[in-house]
Amino acid sequence: MTTNPAPTHTTSTDREAAVVEIRDLRKSFGSVEVLTNITASIKQGEVVCVIGPSGSGKSTLLRCINLLEQPSGGTVLVDGIDVTDPDCDIDQVRSRMGMVFQQFNLFSHLTVLENCTMAQQVVHKRSKAEAQKVARANLEKVGLGDRADDFPAQLSGGQQQRVAIARALSMDPELMLFDEPTSALDPELVGDVLAVMRRLASEGMTMIVVTHEMAFAREVADRVIFMDGGVIVEDGHPDRVIGDPQHHRTRTFLKRVLDPTHVDPEADVDPDDERRSRIKEAELSARAQPQLPGDITDPRF
Ligand SMILES: Nc1ncnc2c1ncn2[C@@H]1O[C@H](COP(=O)(O)OP(=O)(O)OP(=O)(O)O)[C@@H](O)[C@H]1O
Ligand SMILES: [Mg+2]
Repeated sequence: MTTNPAPTHTTSTDREAAVVEIRDLRKSFGSVEVLTNITASIKQGEVVCVIGPSGSGKSTLLRCINLLEQPSGGTVLVDGIDVTDPDCDIDQVRSRMGMVFQQFNLFSHLTVLENCTMAQQVVHKRSKAEAQKVARANLEKVGLGDRADDFPAQLSGGQQQRVAIARALSMDPELMLFDEPTSALDPELVGDVLAVMRRLASEGMTMIVVTHEMAFAREVADRVIFMDGGVIVEDGHPDRVIGDPQHHRTRTFLKRVLDPTHVDPEADVDPDDERRSRIKEAELSARAQPQLPGDITDPRF
């Protein structure tokens, strides 16, 4: 059997080793830069929750780590291997990372068990029997040992997401990336998925979790990264970033997440927010100019 059991504990030496090292990462789509000089390090066994408003670049950051997106600049090292190096064997690096998306992306025509065995057989070249043994163990772990022969459509959203987690775990990843794994679920189904993730964290899995579940982040994360406008605004212990945020933008975001009806009158005049200030200045200067030079319909003429 070629599988490695999930570590049940991490030593202090293990925790010193960076599984992911991101240095000056930049990503642009066309002329729009959506990640600006991101630098962060995730150590073995660490659980890092990434929070931030829609469009702040959280998914793009995860996608640059497993090279679903090609970074425009900077480096991403996974276990010391530079995934941005053109000579890097990205399939080999990717096989060390499990990725769980908002949408579960299960194959609807395959059973739960088949969904969890296919990649093992193809990538790890495991025999069918071996892959099934690993898959059944992981389905048991996520509480779905009795649903192996069902098709995805016979399961609830929360159960399908747990199958997606079991599928990822069956590849023996060293690192799990989660992109809002519970945000497509009905509220009553969220708890079971978070319970599985909580258990993984307690077993020592290295995890990067994009989430809006602040209670989960506060309880489970070793660190919380708050992103806004393509930059890391705060990175620290959850008690500090969520409990005592230092930055106006973090406070505004948390107020909105914790109370969606909250309206912050200062939200658009944050003195620390250089990017917004620049956009604001550009907007104001554009408004000061006639839209069409010489346009006689412009009231300023
Ligand atoms: N393939 C793409 N082409 C062009 N722009 C993109 C692409 N993917 C993302 N973007 C843009 O990059 C920015 C960051 O997007 P991203 O999906 O990373 O944000 P996010 O923080 O994950 O948001 P959400 O919370 O809504 O999922 C957004 O402005 C988005 O429109
Ligand atoms: Mg996203």
